Amino acid sequence: MLDINNIGVSFGGVHALSNVTFTMPDKGISALIGPNGAGKTTLFNVITGFVTPKEGSVKFGGENITGCRSEQVFLKGVSRTFQNLNIIPELTLRENMYLGFIGKEKPSALATMMRVNRGYWKETTNRINECLDFVNVTEYADMTPGSVPYGVLKNFELGRAFMSNPKLLLLDEPAAGLNLAEKENLADMVRKIQSMGICILMVEHDMQFISSLADFVVCLNFGQVIATGTYAQVRENKEVLKAYLGDEDA
Ligand SMILES: Nc1ncnc2c1ncn2[C@@H]1O[C@H](COP(=O)(O)OP(=O)(O)OP(=O)(O)O)[C@@H](O)[C@H]1O
Ligand SMILES: [Mg+2]
Repeated sequence: MLDINNIGVSFGGVHALSNVTFTMPDKGISALIGPNGAGKTTLFNVITGFVTPKEGSVKFGGENITGCRSEQVFLKGVSRTFQNLNIIPELTLRENMYLGFIGKEKPSALATMMRVNRGYWKETTNRINECLDFVNVTEYADMTPGSVPYGVLKNFELGRAFMSNPKLLLLDEPAAGLNLAEKENLADMVRKIQSMGICILMVEHDMQFISSLADFVVCLNFGQVIATGTYAQVRENKEVLKAYLGDEDA
C-alpha cells in the first residue's frame, strides 16, 4: 500500500528525517510512534504532498507519488487529519464537513451541471449526513466549532477525513486530549473504518491505544527508523526503550 524509501527532509540545519525506509502492510492498521520531534508529522506531510523531500521516494499502491501536490495525493485516495484541529471557525460543522469532499469534484462547469442533474447534491448531502452520524456529531452539525466540545471536534476531524472514502487514512494523534470513554469510542470507529477495507496509518503517543489497534508499528527517533514490527516486538526493542526512557533506564 505504502512504500517509504530513503526519505530525507531538512529544515535549515535540522535533519527532520534521514534515510526513512519502511513498507506499510496492504491491510489493517499501522502506527507510527516516537518521542516528540522524532519526525512523525513531517513524514505525514511528505506522504500527503505538503513537504517535498530532498531525497527518497513515496509509492502509494505501486505508483510513485513523490512531489505530487497535496490535492493530487488526495485524489489518488489518501486523506488525513491534522495534529492541531483544522476546522474553519466561521462555518458550521456541516459546512466544514463538505470541505472533506470538495477536492473530489471535477472543475468543469459541464461536469458540475451534470452532477446537479444526476442528483449530485442529494448524494453529497446524504454522504455528509452519513459521516456526521458515523462520528456521532449529528446533534452539533449546525453549530460553529467554537461552541462544540473538544472531543466532538476530534471526532468531526475523523469524519471529514473519512468523507472522501479514501483508500488510506492518515491520523495524526487522533486520541490526544480525549478521555478514556472517548478513546474507546474512537477505537471502535477506527476498527469500523478498517473493516470497510480502508488502510489506516496513525501517529499516536498513547501506547494502550496502539496496542489494542495496530497490526504493524514503526518507531522513529531523531528522524530515523529505529524499529519496525508488531507492537510486542517494537515494545521490547532496546533502541525503542532507550529513546523513550533514556540510557540509564534501558
Ligand atoms: N516547518 C518546519 N520548519 C522548521 N522545522 C520544522 C518544521 N516542521 C518540523 N520541524 C522540525 O522537525 C523536527 C520533526 O518535527 P515533527 O513535527 O515532524 O515531529 P513529531 O514527531 O510530529 O513530534 P510531536 O510528537 O511533538 O508531534 C522537529 O525538530 C521540528 O522542530
Ligand atoms: Mg507531530
